[in-house]
Amino acid sequence: MSPTKPITTQIEEAVQDIPGWSPIDQLLTLFTLAYTSADLDGDILELGSWCGRSAVALGMAAKLSGKGKVHCVDLFPEKNDWFKNEDGTYSFAVNIEGRLVGAYGEQTVWAEPYERDIAPVYERFAGTLEAFTTSISNNGLSNLVSSVKGDLMSFLKIAPKSLKVRLAFIDGDHSYEAVSNDIALIEGSLIHGGWICFDDAFSSYKGVNDAIQKHIIDSDNYEFCQQMTRKLFVARRR
Ligand SMILES: C[S@@+](CC[C@H](N)C(=O)[O-])C[C@H]1O[C@@H](n2cnc3c(N)ncnc32)[C@H](O)[C@@H]1O
Repeated sequence: MSPTKPITTQIEEAVQDIPGWSPIDQLLTLFTLAYTSADLDGDILELGSWCGRSAVALGMAAKLSGKGKVHCVDLFPEKNDWFKNEDGTYSFAVNIEGRLVGAYGEQTVWAEPYERDIAPVYERFAGTLEAFTTSISNNGLSNLVSSVKGDLMSFLKIAPKSLKVRLAFIDGDHSYEAVSNDIALIEGSLIHGGWICFDDAFSSYKGVNDAIQKHIIDSDNYEFCQQMTRKLFVARRR
């Protein structure tokens, strides 16, 4: 990475061919948190990686700071995991260790964004896991960024018992139950002084908003609770 080229430009260049929705101001905020928290103990955990846009920004911060690894957890759906609902919208379900884990069930994906943003991924790549690993290796981050196909519960089962997290980025299932459950699970590894961030906060997902309000803003366990960009919310664990 060049010390004189703006990080914003470097991130933009790194993610320019990676499908996804995370805007550059959000990626820069994630990078900055991951970089400036490098003096804390612990790794970075991302729940919800899709094709790797945010994982690349987090990986670049781990690389530049020389501190910590990035663990990425996603259901990584294949093309055949997607199905059309009766109203023409789309959802998917993936088999994880014999459990069928669904996504986009509560807030389904409309046909137009599915055809525009999701279907083309499966024309370019064998699946989203292949898209993700391509993004990571194209940016020289394979030794720092790892992926697990599963949900948070299945990841924590195989993660080292000593896992400590200095920054958790939550961008998986957006239902209230799932976000609440993910916060509770992450709290087992999130260090005091570490950061938790949420995508799609206070934008258009009631489940995400309500879970953040109850378990983060109204909780005594967190400080510096702040919406940072249009849809990225961050808080620090006391
Ligand atoms: C909006 S995308 C993530 C985008 C990514 N952070 C980026 O910057 O490009 C949401 C992701 O969450 C994943 N997902 C949904 N439910 C999940 C769950 N229960 N566990 C793990 N991943 C899940 C989906 O497979 C999808 O890849």
